[in-house]
Amino acid sequence: MNLSVIILAAGAGTRMRSAKPKVLHEIAGKPLVEHVYERSLDLAAESVHIVYGHGGERLREKCHHFNRAIWSEQAQQLGTAHAVQQASTNIAENNIVLVLYGDVPLIKTQTLKKLVTTVSDNNIALLTVKLDNPDGYGRIVREAKKVVAIVEQKDATHDQLTINEVNTGILALRAGYLNTCLKKIDNNNAQGEYYLTDIIALAVADGHEIVTTEAVNSYEVEGVNDRKQLARLERIYQEEQAERIMAAGVTLADPSRIDVRGKLVIGEDAFIDVNCVFEGTVAIGNNVKIGPGCVIRSSTIEAGCIIKPYSVIDDAKIASNVEVGPFARLRPGADLKHNSRVGNFVEIKKSVLGENSKASHLTYLGDTEVGSNVNIGAGTITCNYDGANKFKTIIEDGAFIGSDTQLVAPVRVGKNATIGAGSTITRDTEADTLTLSRVNQKTVTGWQRPTKKS
Ligand code: UD1
Ligand code: CA
Repeated sequence: MNLSVIILAAGAGTRMRSAKPKVLHEIAGKPLVEHVYERSLDLAAESVHIVYGHGGERLREKCHHFNRAIWSEQAQQLGTAHAVQQASTNIAENNIVLVLYGDVPLIKTQTLKKLVTTVSDNNIALLTVKLDNPDGYGRIVREAKKVVAIVEQKDATHDQLTINEVNTGILALRAGYLNTCLKKIDNNNAQGEYYLTDIIALAVADGHEIVTTEAVNSYEVEGVNDRKQLARLERIYQEEQAERIMAAGVTLADPSRIDVRGKLVIGEDAFIDVNCVFEGTVAIGNNVKIGPGCVIRSSTIEAGCIIKPYSVIDDAKIASNVEVGPFARLRPGADLKHNSRVGNFVEIKKSVLGENSKASHLTYLGDTEVGSNVNIGAGTITCNYDGANKFKTIIEDGAFIGSDTQLVAPVRVGKNATIGAGSTITRDTEADTLTLSRVNQKTVTGWQRPTKKS
């Protein structure tokens, strides 16, 4: 049975007080609407229709990678029924249509699967939820257990307002029947809008059944209308990530102080201290220890590594038993081999640091290949850029680079070569040699320091 999803995303979102369309605000670094779009992909929908209005240009630009999306404009927001109609008339009659909301980001695939399987030729599948405080929601009106209508808060009677089973807005039914009903819906109500919810009373009148599925967690069907709700759902999302990580055998110093904005795959007996942020796809091996305040993005860290506090790691590859930090910065293309060490205030970009090699303090390595068993002294800088082009530095196995050395690329330091501290190296050096470029030390006796002129 073919499924078409319609995602409503035309609302202005005035309560966000933002120049940005509401559905582009983010949870875990990803636009609200993208969370919903991804659920449609999980359901293997044949087509995904996104109804947009406010900030349409910006929305489509930001979502250019939604390659399954079909965009339908709703120029004027005349109500949810009108919004659905902008897309539903293009959907094959026999398809099941599932209506989702671009500002309800935490809906679960499992819940939707369950809902969709209850659709038949002559019914409507409706997702409901029971809330302690149903304020603001459309209420589910039942007679002899059967759903007979949904009444909006503003149209409800005193008695109806006490009903705590509410409409989530999420429903599924055949496209053909949906389109027949949409033609009959008017805007004769308190808000002067075309309510999608009126479809329930129409279906009941047609003798169609309303089958309900209840959402397990109420946050699944919570919408974002303001920044407070956005923050609340962000925390719920992060709490779920933390639980998933702990279930995989990882100790978190504080599950409420970790943020995963992407995909984190992590091995057993890893430990993550407080306030770490993970972005993009990050893979971390067994027994890795991550100190507080680290930001790790799109990187691989193999088993047994120790990442010390406040290190920033972006698009790097770190082999097993490596130590990084504190205060290290690994930039794209940093490739640290087994058992290497990177200490404080070291920046590494597009460079390999070979096995057992160390750069322990205050160093910049850019476009560099460092072999194994190399020691890079404090304050070593590879001068890889002449203002226009980048050049490579090669440091062969066993070399020793004295402190405060500048290596002016392109340049090569030979195997087991030594560079004396304070040197500026502009030419290749031979294996097993000592090279230094500093001036000889001299002493001036009787030297008087200048005194301040009065
Ligand atoms: C709607 C339901 C209500 C339900 C609640 C759950 C209707 C009439 N009411 O109320 O029963 O309890 O959701 O959150 O459906 N939208 C458009 N175009 C429009 C109008 C709305 O795209 O012309 C989009 C909005 O951007 C929003 C969603 O549809 O994402 C819901 O619209 P909104 O006006 O907020 O409906 P509610 O009053 O919340
Ligand atoms: Ca709403």
